[in-house]
Amino acid sequence: MHAKKTNLAMNNLSPIGIFDSGVGGLSVVNNIVNLLPFENLVYVADSKYAPYGSRSKEEIFDRSCVIINYLIQSYNIKAIVVACNTATAACINELRVLFSIPIIGMEPAIKPANRLSKNKRIGILATSGTLKSSKFIALLSHYEGNSEFFSQPCHGLVEEIEKGLIDTSKTRAIINKNLSVLKRKKIDVIILGCTHFVFIRHLIKEFFNEDIPIIDTGLAVAKRLLSQLEENNLLMNRSLRGKLIICTNDDSKQPQQTLKTLAPDLKYKLITFN
Ligand code: DGL
Repeated sequence: MHAKKTNLAMNNLSPIGIFDSGVGGLSVVNNIVNLLPFENLVYVADSKYAPYGSRSKEEIFDRSCVIINYLIQSYNIKAIVVACNTATAACINELRVLFSIPIIGMEPAIKPANRLSKNKRIGILATSGTLKSSKFIALLSHYEGNSEFFSQPCHGLVEEIEKGLIDTSKTRAIINKNLSVLKRKKIDVIILGCTHFVFIRHLIKEFFNEDIPIIDTGLAVAKRLLSQLEENNLLMNRSLRGKLIICTNDDSKQPQQTLKTLAPDLKYKLITFN
């Protein structure tokens, strides 16, 4: 049994912690930087343990605890964004019991998709971990009477995106292999239920070759973060300009290369952690 941990030292000047299995959560960081440019952010890419999609609930919970403890101890963070659908599905409730700072998670945008879809036929791209989770199954069951959902786990895509390979024939071939079945289902909205997939939205659009809305939850999460900070009196002074630190536990040259492709406009300091 873990004891609940309170970060008593945090205040509105503290940074916000954000994490994912790897670089995928940077698609959420982009939304947070746009909406809350005054906040300091520390992003952890758990690159050594990516992908999370095929890991057990227990492993993902353990990694999430290691990362949140690191962020509290090293950066005194005031809130955490779990920028990972898989980790949210696996353990957000347990994390909220364990840590007493605001914790914002992500989940596939089923409700907005249901509103948008005319055919009431919706495609969901997410990891197998998310799709198998009881949290996701419960969410889906809420809307199953209104729309028909077609879920696809997209094996192999996260690995390519981690390498920054978002425009290669191999990535296109993986999309082709995974999504061909969806093409025949007459879906008219696609949900990106994995933060990594935002970086290949252009390839998914190209594959479907028609104007299907492809939606994600990055902006909704940034808005939720803003309202949580306001409610808890933790918002930074809006006249300041925040900084971004990206931490990775991959000490090879790979993260630098990947970031050049995936985050060409972000300003950040890259550091490694163990
Ligand atoms: N980006 C993550 C998500 O949103 C995890 C992908 C993975 O590591 O498998 O689910």
